[in-house]
Parts: sequence; C-alpha cells; structure tokens
Amino acid sequence: MFKTFIAVASCVLALASTSLSAADATAPIVIKFSHVVADDTPKGQGALLFKKLVEQRLGGQVQVEVHPNSSLFGDADELEALRKNEVQLLAPSLAKFEQYTKQLQVFDLPFLFDDLDAVNRFQKRAKGRQLLRSMESNDIVGLAYWHNGMRQFSGPRALRTPKDAAGLAFRIQPSDVIEAQFARIGATSAKIPFAETLAALQSGKVQASENTWSNLYSQKLYTVQPVITESNHGALDYMLVSNPRFWYSIPHATRTQLEAIIDEVTFAVNHAAEEQNRADRERIVATGKTQVVSLSAEERQAWREAMRPVWKQFEPNIGEDILKAAEIVNRKK
Ligand code: LMR
Repeated sequence: MFKTFIAVASCVLALASTSLSAADATAPIVIKFSHVVADDTPKGQGALLFKKLVEQRLGGQVQVEVHPNSSLFGDADELEALRKNEVQLLAPSLAKFEQYTKQLQVFDLPFLFDDLDAVNRFQKRAKGRQLLRSMESNDIVGLAYWHNGMRQFSGPRALRTPKDAAGLAFRIQPSDVIEAQFARIGATSAKIPFAETLAALQSGKVQASENTWSNLYSQKLYTVQPVITESNHGALDYMLVSNPRFWYSIPHATRTQLEAIIDEVTFAVNHAAEEQNRADRERIVATGKTQVVSLSAEERQAWREAMRPVWKQFEPNIGEDILKAAEIVNRKK
C-alpha cells in the first residue's frame, strides 16, 4: 500500500514538474529569471528589483530566482529553454529574436533611430506595442520593453567614416541585420555569444565590437579596445519575455499583481538606463585605457546615408508599415 502510494506520488510529481501549469494552489510559483549580463547593469538591476518587489508583495505565493551572467542559460540556449518552460523570464536583446520573428529587426537597423528617446517613442506607439505579440505562435510572449541604450563602435581605431571600418572583424550579436551592416562597409563579423566576447577580443579572433557603455564597462571590453567611437548607431534594448502557456496559467489575481510590478520595474529601468550608461562612459574615460571619440553631426549623417541600403534590404522582412512608423519617431511629436 505504502509502495503504491510512493509510486503514484512520484508519478504525480514527475507530471507536475514537466507541466506548464503554475496553478498548484499550495506550492509557490517559482519564476526563474535568467540573463547574460552583470547585476550592475540596467537589465541586471531590473531583474533584482523585480525579485525584491515580488517577494515584498507576493512572498509565499511567488518566488523569483535571478541567474545573471549566463550562469543558468546563455545566448545559445536561453530562448529554447523558455519555450520548454525550463526558465520563466528572460530579457534578451531585441537582436536575439530573429529566429522567431523578423519584424523586430527594425530595432537593429543602423542609424535609423536618432537616439534612445526616439526608440522609446516607437516602443510606446501602436506598432511598437504590437511587436510584443509577434512571437506568441512560437511560445514567446513579450511583457515589456526594457532599455539598455545605444550601441557604440569599439576597436583598434576611430571609426569616423564607414571607410575606417573596412577590413576589421567585429564581434556581433546573432543578427543578420548587424551582419549586413558590417558587410556593407567592407568589414567582416562573427556571431559570438555575449559571454565569450571578451575572450574573442583578447585572443584576436575579432578586433572590434559594438555595444552599450554599460556592457563595454561591466564586461571589461574597453580594456581590450583602444578606441570607442561614440556612434549611437543602433538600439540595444530588451524584451522581457515569458512562455505564454506558463504566464497565462498563473491565477488571474496573481498575474495582475505581477504585471503591475513589471510596469513599475519597467518604469524604473527605463528611467535609470541612460544615467547608468552615462556613468559607465565616465568610468571608462576615467581609466585612461581607451580613447573615446564622438561623431560630429555631419559624420553621423554620412554613416546614415551609407547604411540606408541596409534598411531597404530588410524592409520586406520587417514590413513597410513598421519601418515607416520607426522613421517618423525621430520627429519629436
Ligand atoms: C550582447 O550580446 O552584446 C547583448 O545582447 C548582451 C545584453 O544582453 O545586453
């Protein structure tokens, strides 16, 4: 009798652990939040604030585990893990969803957005919000956009003009748009996971990269990049995502509270990100290890013109309507 009970109980436990349901009334819902950056970055801070607020307000009902720095899953496997419900929250950069939707490629188009405010306006408008839902048929639901910031070029020399980049090998995120951006100007690129970027630059596998100030600083990428060109040439923002079958199985009242916490955390992350990047830029400059050069308005315009064919190349993937909606956010209305 006891043996039968154990056998039945183990079967039930095995089923429960593979189930996508979060609705067991007795056990707390466990949300594993995995990401690839350091704690002291906009995304890292956002994940920790989410954990803190959930534990304050839903302690006992929901537990949050934060796994930073690719310690649980990395670029290569995190989205598949989410689709299998092995992890419940991620915030990959928008460049990393290409396999699941081409529409998000709009965020990687080089020199499309003037600045992070323009990116923010696009994310808040109807077309931007619609993209949060663009991957539901692939078991990925977008809950919010989180800012990191604008990407900067880094490498052995200043990249004031597109010609300056010719012949360099860049580490890039897994994005066909970013690959096309460098191919357009005679550079090569390698799609390398974030966790391996510093080693790839140290070993000389690649000589150059592009990232935000907070990632250049927290991953020590600046220590092996003699010059950073402040190009602000593309967004590196995140989509906070979950598995829709997991997310919608959370009891309604609890999910509503979680969504309210996400709104609060999103507001905090998006207000702090620019300041964090500004501070990390200052920290990099203060080390004296790297020279920082900024593009003039004319230099930036020349880059933008050189990159327009890349926008055209990806327009059929992204959709003309989305591209238009992104272009007009540069006018501040
Ligand atoms: C990168 O791979 O460079 C970034 O997407 C890392 C991150 O999540 O900020």
